[in-house]
Amino acid sequence: MTPVPEPLDAEVIRKDFPLLAQRVHDRPIVYLDSASSSLQPRPVLAAMERYYESTHANVHRGVYATAEEATALYEGARRKVGRFIGAPDPRHEVIFTKNATEALNLVVNSWGRANLKRGDVVVLTEMEHHSNLVPWLALAQNVGIELRYLPVDGQGRLDLCDLDRILDGASAVSVSAMSNVLGTINPVPLITEAAHRHGAITVVDGAQSVPHLVTDVAALGADFLAFSAHKMLGPTGIGVLWGRRELLDAMPPFLGGGGMILDVTLERFTPAEAPWRFEAGTPPIAEAVGLAAAVDYLDAVGMEQIVTHERALTAYALTAIGDRLGEVCRVFGPPVGGDRAGVLSLDYRDVHAHDVAQVLDQFGVCVRPGHHCAKPLMSRLGVSATARASIDIYNDDSDIDTLIEGLTHVGTVFG
Ligand code: ALA
Repeated sequence: MTPVPEPLDAEVIRKDFPLLAQRVHDRPIVYLDSASSSLQPRPVLAAMERYYESTHANVHRGVYATAEEATALYEGARRKVGRFIGAPDPRHEVIFTKNATEALNLVVNSWGRANLKRGDVVVLTEMEHHSNLVPWLALAQNVGIELRYLPVDGQGRLDLCDLDRILDGASAVSVSAMSNVLGTINPVPLITEAAHRHGAITVVDGAQSVPHLVTDVAALGADFLAFSAHKMLGPTGIGVLWGRRELLDAMPPFLGGGGMILDVTLERFTPAEAPWRFEAGTPPIAEAVGLAAAVDYLDAVGMEQIVTHERALTAYALTAIGDRLGEVCRVFGPPVGGDRAGVLSLDYRDVHAHDVAQVLDQFGVCVRPGHHCAKPLMSRLGVSATARASIDIYNDDSDIDTLIEGLTHVGTVFG
């Protein structure tokens, strides 16, 4: 990658992202949809191309040199990802899934089905993404577990006043570390500490947080952590579930098939040890190589510098929107501060979020309109949709200025 001077210089970083050279409607693209899916830098694309050109073979199967090289790359990616999140035992604790959604489904359907029965309590929050909601709702329907929710307050933070009462008797707590709608950075260590005191295991949805914050599973107090590669400069098609080894070793497989067994007869099967027992079928090998390159890229830039850069840009955006459009445009979520990340969900007067997004598109600005797979949170906020702009490592002030230019034009178009 291009050497990055300190502090993080988005101008330099941008050159590594080929998609940012695109023009849309004859304007430079302004990519503000990274909470949905981030862009990939050249080293990630190159690593995957190199893998397919020189090393492709199935993993854990062949004994020829190329197959062993592919296996080494795949297992090396597992160790690298584990180190990135502070996993004590990356080799046994990092499971590659399809995405964060599948990682959360794995926890619910493997740990949940093996450990929860009718009447057991699982605590979630009102701000969860459907991927940390629907699997638990399905378990509630099928098994009869009780779901309780930590509420969201008027500023888009979790209201923890009743935390101990809500946790009383709970078996599990599953919480997002960063809201994909509000940009709230939740006080996960505080929640997990309380959860453990009540004897509950903790699941952390890190889909939004892992790409933007320094992550350490011990500091988080997580028993499980789920996240996706495609939101952290990596490819689509691969996600991660990290879990504590004792928990994983006691869990049944989620999917059955090749690669996940020690033995099979016509009567029964014996699963392999974790993590391989959870990786049925040919895994996402090239994607693991791409994810490892994404981790290298993030490490080279430095997660602390990323936090500083994105925090400053978020403050710039919130202040500019407030100053220039405060009369017509609400931004949900906490004000500028240490628990506020760069996810800006906008509600523009009486203009529908899809119309806002379409006007912005004319300015080359990519945002996501809709409910952001968080319909209960939308109800809580009293809106059906927002237009969401989200910030990443490659964004700078000029992107925010173009966003403001586009939002100002929304007022002209819709009177
Ligand atoms: N979870 C992604 C989002 O919030 C897709 O947009």
